[in-house]
Formats: sequence, structure tokens, C-alpha cells
Amino acid sequence: MALNEKEKSCCCATDTDILKQVAAIASKWRDRPDMLIPVLHEVQKVAGNGIPKDVAVTVSREMRVPMSQIYGVETFYAFYSTEKRGKVLIRLCKSAPCHVKGAKDVLDAFEKALGVRAGETTPDGMFTLETCECIGVCDVSPAALIDDAVYGDLKPENVSELISLLRKRA
Ligand code: FES
Repeated sequence: MALNEKEKSCCCATDTDILKQVAAIASKWRDRPDMLIPVLHEVQKVAGNGIPKDVAVTVSREMRVPMSQIYGVETFYAFYSTEKRGKVLIRLCKSAPCHVKGAKDVLDAFEKALGVRAGETTPDGMFTLETCECIGVCDVSPAALIDDAVYGDLKPENVSELISLLRKRA
């Protein structure tokens, strides 16, 4: 299935090289719908921390999986996004144990340091700040998942330094 003209000319269209990488990943699992979740996980990493429509269309075509199934997976699981996100994905836990240990103050510090609210991406495309439910490390709350790494015992006064480190690493 080829992209229609509107998708090709969209200002938000995914880079051709990235779509080629997506096709290479997905084509390895043609007619294997059981592999959709790990494929989407891998694809999301190369496609800007998200699975926008042209990326989903590529996966659908290469795996021969219906778009409805892809859409169902990416909207059911919180770890997928239908939009591109920042290069670094910060997910702050907002569940009760983290909340009582000061997660809101940590979130405020991130929002202030990054200049965005939860759910937004910095204008330079570097960081997306999100909140999430328990990530299973309540013993080190307040905690966050930053990309695939867990950060615990977060303190508002350490947030700026952490952002600087993440920026250098990215
Ligand atoms: S409540 Fe935050 S990690 Fe469990």
C-alpha cells in the first residue's frame, strides 16, 4: 500500500530513511502478527519515540497486519504513542506511593526546568515529559523511567543537574 499524496506532502511526514529502517524491521516478521508488539517497540525507537500514521502504514504493509490491529495496540499500551516525541522520554510516576513522597514537587521542578507541562515536548525536540502509573520501584519513590532506565529517590533540587546530564548523553 503506497502513501497517498496528502501523506507524502504532509509537513509532519516521517523522513524517508527512517521509513526504510521501519520497513526493514517490520519485513522480517511478515505474516507474524504475534510479533507486532516487539516490532512496534523497536520501530518506535527509530521513529522518534512514536508511531505516527506513515510509520504505522509501513509496518502494516510490511507485516501484512491490518492498520486497525496496529492502532489497537498503540492506543491500548501507554508505552506507545501515535505521535513523535522527544529524543529523551521522561516518565514520572504519579501513583500514590510516589505522590506521598513528593512526586508532584519533582514534576513541578521538571516542568520549570524544561519549560513545558506534562504531556508536552520541548521546542528543540529533545525532551518529552509525561506522567505514568507505578513503574514497580516504589521502594525508591519518587521515581521516573527515563528512556529505558529507572531513576529513583528523585529530589526537586537535583532535577536541573539531571537534565544537563541527559542532554549531554542524548
Ligand atoms: S508508585 Fe511510583 S514506582 Fe510505584
